[in-house]
Amino acid sequence: MTGRRVAVVGAGHTRFGVRPEGPRELMRTAVDGAFASVDRGLERSEVQEAFLGSLGFSGWQIGNASAVLAEEARIVGAPVTHVENACASAGFALRAGVAAIQSGMRDVVLVVGLEKMTDSPSTRRRYWLGVSGDTEWERLAGLTFAGVYGLIASRHMAEYGTPAEALAEVAVKNHANGALNPNAQFQKPVTREKVLEAPRVADPLGLLDCCPVTDGSAAVLLASEPVARRLTDTPVFVAGAGAASDSLALQERGSLTSLAATRRACDEAFRQAGFERRSVSFLEVHDCFTIAELLALEDLGFAEPGGAASMTLEGATRLGGRLPVNPDGGLKAKGHPIGATGASQTYEVFQQLRAAAGRRQVAGAERALSHNVGGSGASATVTLFSVS
Ligand code: COA
Repeated sequence: MTGRRVAVVGAGHTRFGVRPEGPRELMRTAVDGAFASVDRGLERSEVQEAFLGSLGFSGWQIGNASAVLAEEARIVGAPVTHVENACASAGFALRAGVAAIQSGMRDVVLVVGLEKMTDSPSTRRRYWLGVSGDTEWERLAGLTFAGVYGLIASRHMAEYGTPAEALAEVAVKNHANGALNPNAQFQKPVTREKVLEAPRVADPLGLLDCCPVTDGSAAVLLASEPVARRLTDTPVFVAGAGAASDSLALQERGSLTSLAATRRACDEAFRQAGFERRSVSFLEVHDCFTIAELLALEDLGFAEPGGAASMTLEGATRLGGRLPVNPDGGLKAKGHPIGATGASQTYEVFQQLRAAAGRRQVAGAERALSHNVGGSGASATVTLFSVS
């Protein structure tokens, strides 16, 4: 990576799910957790800038949301920027924080992701979620995100013969991992039969192929290397931070079975990191629907096109497998509070690379990749982390 080295020195997380707290309380809990996790302590006054990833708190605070973070983090006076790139909002907020330190402008930056989704009735929520898709050809035509990913899954099955069992196995594996994560929305394992027999949402995707609707927040503290070394003996370094875009509408894209933004962001991240895919210990990928995890494995270059299904069915992506994927339960079981997800993935990487992930620990983890996608793939970030 060019510029100064950047490390994660602290991370906080609320329990995800249907939460009684409001957005301010969720945000405060995550931020307080991040400060409490800094080994040798960090004063609020040392935070020089902050970035907030959120789609808009379910409409609760669409304008000037950054001011809410300044208040709840008790850093009023520091500049705060609200970053909105749909489900990839916090991935892009993280990247902005990394760039601020890399460039030499800042030494300590706070990155927070937040969404409060369950306050709105489901009819309004559908409309609100849809705002991140193409308006004319998709949203006004009645296509939901489950519908978009249902089309992608059908096409993937037709092109590669991907079996429904492979999609189901993604849900089984992620629910099994979620059962080991005290912050996950769903902490109960599910069987393959249960996934395959669940009510259909957007064929071929059923209820258990979908991420849920979730409230939650996660927070990450970043520091330049000298400051990081003062704060902790076990910083987690950002080795590469790639990001890219694609056309918003599906019909403008070259393929339905590959997300070009993921591919571009991933290439950039590995170019910056200077290490190979084979040295990555585990992945945190954006499995908003089960098909999205298979797409991610292929677009990130860990499986050939069409090859993710067999890799998944063989158990390679389970905890204890050759390449564990989503040890925290992923969006499927941990939950997907839109703007918080990218920060939550970083929280998991921070726990894992410090060997602090408890029952879901990936043995010997030293390098990790996190992948955050906006909507159906119009934006994506890929971030690489390393313990040294
Ligand atoms: N996975 C597993 N269980 C789920 C679930 C999911 N995704 N969504 C809901 N449930 C469970 C609930 O916990 C509840 O269980 P209970 O009866 O034991 O309490 C039950 O299913 C019904 O919940 P409800 O909230 O009424 O479901 P719903 O039909 O309103 O919503 C979906 C289900 C799949 C439509 C909704 O979760 C959804 O829209 N998910 C996708 C969100 C999305 O598009 N995000 C952006 C991605 S790009």
